[in-house]
Amino acid sequence: KNIPATLIPGDGIGPEIVESVIEILDAVGAPFDWDRQLAGMAAVDATGNPLPAQTIESIHRTGLALKGPLTTPVGGGFKSINVTLRQEFGLYANLRPTHTIVPGGRFENIDLVLVRENLEGYYAAMESYIPVGDDPHGIATGAGYNSRAECNRIVRFAFEYAVKNNRKKVTLVHKANILKLLTGLFLEEGRKVAKEYEGRVEVNERIVDACAMQLVIDPWQFDVIVTTNLFGDILSDLTAGLVGGLGMAPGANIGEKAAVFEAVHGSAPDIAGKNLANPLALLMAANMMLQHVGRQDLAARIDGAIKSVITTGEVRTRDLGGTAGTRELTAALKQKLV
Ligand code: NAI
Ligand code: MG
Repeated sequence: KNIPATLIPGDGIGPEIVESVIEILDAVGAPFDWDRQLAGMAAVDATGNPLPAQTIESIHRTGLALKGPLTTPVGGGFKSINVTLRQEFGLYANLRPTHTIVPGGRFENIDLVLVRENLEGYYAAMESYIPVGDDPHGIATGAGYNSRAECNRIVRFAFEYAVKNNRKKVTLVHKANILKLLTGLFLEEGRKVAKEYEGRVEVNERIVDACAMQLVIDPWQFDVIVTTNLFGDILSDLTAGLVGGLGMAPGANIGEKAAVFEAVHGSAPDIAGKNLANPLALLMAANMMLQHVGRQDLAARIDGAIKSVITTGEVRTRDLGGTAGTRELTAALKQKLV
C-alpha cells in the first residue's frame, strides 16, 4: 500500500457503498494507503464545517481521492462542496463513461464517454436576487462565463482521451444558436482544436437539445461527447439512464493538482442506511482510479467480477430489478474475483 489517497465516506448511502468498495479493493490488494477525511453533512455534524481544512490539506498532499456522495442543501445553506472541491483543485475535466453491463435492458452495447467542463459555465453560480417593489415582482438572475482557454483545454482533453483510448469520434455539444457568445466560444475553440486532430479523430457537432433526443433514439452514433458544465451535468444523467440508471454511472474529476473519483449519483437519502444502495457506480469509479495510477490489471479483475455477477443476474440490487442488498452484492463480487 504505497500510494497515498484520501477517502471521503460522504453522506447518506456514502458510508455503505464506500465500505463495500474498500472491501473489494482490499480483496484484490489495491495499492492505496487511505487517509480517511470528512466532508459534507458528516463534516458539519463533526466539526461545524462542511469542508474542513484537514480534508483539503489531505487532498493537496495525496493528489488523489475517492469520494462518497455529499448532501448539498437546496437553496440556502452552504455552497456545494463538490463545486468547491472542483475549484480548489482545478478539477477541470469531468469524465463520465457509460457502457452497457446489464443485459436485456433498453439499450445493448452502449459504449460512450461524456467529458464535461467542470469549472465554468452557469455553475460559476453568479446569482442574485433583485427585489422589485413588492416581492411578487422580484427577479432572480444568474450569469455564467466560459473562457477561451478553458474551452480549448476541455476539448483538447476530450481529443487526447480519444487518441489514447482508441476512440474514433468526438461530438461537440453546444447551444451556440441561442447563447451565441457563451457557448459560441466553446464551439469556436472546439473547431480549432478539432483541426489539429484531423485524420486521426473525427469531429461532429450537436445542439444540446437535439443531442438529448439523439441520445435516446440512437445512442450508438456517439463515441466521445464534450460539452460545457450545465449541459454535461444533465446529459450525463441521461446517459446513465441508458444503461441501468445512476447506480451504474461512475465519474472522475481530473485536474492539474488532483483527481477525485466518485459516483455520478448523490447521497440517496431515501434509501440510506437500509442496505439497499448499489455500490457499483462507486466501484467503477474506484476502477477508474486504479487505471489512473497504472493498475489496469486490478481494474480488469474487478471489472470481470462486476460483469460476471451482473450478467448472470443472480445477485442484483433493487435499482437493477433484483432483491440483493449492498452487502449481498459485495459478497457475490468478492466470490467472483479471480
Ligand atoms: P440521488 O442521486 O441521491 O438520488 C436519485 C434517485 O436515485 C433516488 O431515488 C435514489 O434512491 C436513487 N439512487 C441514487 N444512487 C443510488 C444507488 N447507488 N443505488 C440505488 N439507488 C440509487 O439524487 P438526489 O436525490 O437528487 O440528491 C440527494 C442529495 O445528493 C442532494 O443533497 C444532492 O445535492 C446530493 N448530490 C451529491 C452528488 C455528489 O456528491 N457527487 C451528486 C448528486 C447529488
Ligand atoms: Mg449531476
